[in-house]
Amino acid sequence: MASDENKDVILDVKHLKTYFLSGKKNETEMRASDDLSYQVHKGEFVAIVGESGSGKSVSALSVMGLIPYPPGLVVGGEILFHGEDLLLASDERIRQIRGSKISMIFQEPSTALNPVVTIGKQISETIRIHNSKISKKDAMNKAIELLGKVNIPNPEVRAKQYPFELSGGMQQRAMIAMAMSCDPEILIADEPTTALDVTVQAQVLEQLNSLRDEYGTALILITHNLGVVARYADSVKVVYGGKIVESGSPDHIFENPHHPYTLGLICAVPRLDLPRSHGLHTIEGDPPNMAEIKENSCAFAPRCKYATDRCFNERPPEAEIEEGHICACFNMDKTEEERRALV
Ligand SMILES: Nc1ncnc2c1ncn2[C@@H]1O[C@H](COP(=O)(O)OP(=O)(O)OP(=O)(O)O)[C@@H](O)[C@H]1O
Ligand SMILES: [Mg+2]
Repeated sequence: MASDENKDVILDVKHLKTYFLSGKKNETEMRASDDLSYQVHKGEFVAIVGESGSGKSVSALSVMGLIPYPPGLVVGGEILFHGEDLLLASDERIRQIRGSKISMIFQEPSTALNPVVTIGKQISETIRIHNSKISKKDAMNKAIELLGKVNIPNPEVRAKQYPFELSGGMQQRAMIAMAMSCDPEILIADEPTTALDVTVQAQVLEQLNSLRDEYGTALILITHNLGVVARYADSVKVVYGGKIVESGSPDHIFENPHHPYTLGLICAVPRLDLPRSHGLHTIEGDPPNMAEIKENSCAFAPRCKYATDRCFNERPPEAEIEEGHICACFNMDKTEEERRALV
């Protein structure tokens, strides 16, 4: 990679291992993030995609220093934010970064918003936590301005309302406004749209994207829906069993997918260009029970039609298919025919 490009890396997650331990002597390890590596560049829109239980939220909570111990524990790897390893930082330092440099929108807005405090007060108080010099009035004005920026109509009125008085889509926007209130370098949005209808989903994503354009904030969007990322993401990371199995630009992923799991996800995206009779493809088998994944194997092997003995006994290494396009699979050449049928 060119050194110029490296300079732009603001978050560098290297070989992250986050386990959940159970049993009397913590002898059972569930590897929710298992040797997970990825980088985020300044202002980049990164999408992390995978089925339920694949370890998407855990990978984000690890970055935020929010893995609940016990039973969760980051047991290995590095999380470098501008070169500083957050895993070695003090609690105070992490709190500082979490509030001001990296912020996160959680999966459930109703649990993240305080039901008994007005929207405006919640946002203005967050602003005041990070800027003790700002007056209450100025903080409230900034909160109202932010609500306007995320396209909440009549923001002065909405600021005086409680979360239950807002629709799901508006609650999401209020969450985005709150997360943006400290002008973060990275905004992590964990499934910010699943509870919303499709039109509102698209509006929320559009909103995140325009904030990225306006403020240069890098975005990490976590979603189970590969379809939603195509329009916005600069980079897509496909996660399975706590690992990234394929990553690349949306073009790489959609035009030249190599991992059998990525192919399955693409076929599961509804397509307007195919007749309805074509039906919606689902990936056979169940999402992995992570407690059962063998350490030295491909997590996808039990569901993979190309799997050989090797896949059950050896972990496939990451291989570069073309510049910026990486896949970890022993059988990626065998997916050729399926790939051709897709395009
Ligand atoms: N607090 C916890 N205690 C025990 N196991 C947990 C805990 N949180 C997550 N896990 C386990 O870690 C694995 C990854 O969970 P994670 O929440 O990251 O999945 P996800 O990809 O975000 O799924 P979803 O799309 O449903 O949100 C799962 O197998 C889950 O059961
Ligand atoms: Mg999740």
